[in-house]
Parts: sequence; structure tokens; C-alpha cells
Amino acid sequence: MFEEMVLYHSILVKILFGILVVGMLIPFLSSDSNKIIKQMRIYMFVFHGFITAVAFSGLVAFVFAKMCFDLSILAMIVVYIFISILESLKYLKILKYNDKGKIVATNIKYTLLSISVIVALIIWKIVENKSAISLS
Ligand code: HEM
Repeated sequence: MFEEMVLYHSILVKILFGILVVGMLIPFLSSDSNKIIKQMRIYMFVFHGFITAVAFSGLVAFVFAKMCFDLSILAMIVVYIFISILESLKYLKILKYNDKGKIVATNIKYTLLSISVIVALIIWKIVENKSAISLS
């Protein structure tokens, strides 16, 4: 049962990854910056809906397994809050721009930062799961 919950959690993490990559490509789909901003607004709802689903699925596994709070769980909660804030700041910055070039540059910068944070967390979880010694 717990393994199944963690499986759903890690599947949602992979989908979240895909959504971030799609978010990075959105500004390339149109030359009209107003249209890009409209598309980014839809992306924001989808992104925040999914990252909340990731966090909720993790919380359910955490509570269900009566796990003790450790560094790994704290790191995932911090990543969840950090990336949610980062993506919101990105959108607020993009709203100020009318120039497509600035929108593309801002979008790529913030999205690559979000992606690298999630990659770092996934590498940590892989090393943790592979190593006999728990890292947290
Ligand atoms: C964006 C945020 C998050 C990411 C990217 C993330 C990522 C991951 C990854 C990659 C794993 C390993 C999955 C596996 O072993 O196949 C994992 C496991 C887990 N996550 Fe998260 N997680 C996030 C948020 C959370 C939150 C908010 C909680 C809840 C408190 C949570 C609780 C758990 C638990 C209980 C496990 C299984 C036990 C463990 O391996 O420590 N996660 N998470």
C-alpha cells in the first residue's frame, strides 16, 4: 500500500517535470506577447494544481506510513514551497514585459532553476534509496 502511494507520488513528480518543460516552450509557440501571457496564465493554474497534487500525495504517504519527520521530508516540503514561489514570481515578472525576448529569457531562467532544484532532489532520493545508509 505504501509503495503504491510512493509510486503515485513519483509518477506525479515526473508529470510535474513534463509540465515545467512545456512551460518553458510556451513562449516559442506565439510571437504575440499578449497571447503568450494568456497561455502562461493557463500554464500557472495547471502547474500549481499539479505541484499541490505532488505535495498532497507525499503527505498522504507520510501520514499513512506514520513516518517520522526527517531531513528528506523537510527538503521535499521546502522544495514544494520554493518552486511554488519561484513559478509565481516568474509569472509576475512576465506580466510586466511586452517584449517577447524578455519574456522568453525570464521564462527560461526561472524554469531552469525550478528544474535543477527538482533534479537535485530526485538525485538525493535515488542516492538515499540506493545507499544502505539513510542520508537523513
Ligand atoms: C515538489 C515537491 C516534491 C518532490 C519533487 C518530491 C519528490 C520525491 C521523490 C523523487 C521521492 C522518491 C520516490 C521513489 O522512491 O520512487 C519522494 C518520496 C517521498 N516523498 Fe516526496 N516530493 C515532493 C514533495 C513531498 C511532500 C510535500 C511530502 C510530504 C510531506 C513528500 C513525502 C514523500 C514521502 C513520504 C516519500 C516516500 C518516502 C521517502 O522516500 O522518503 N514529498 N518524493
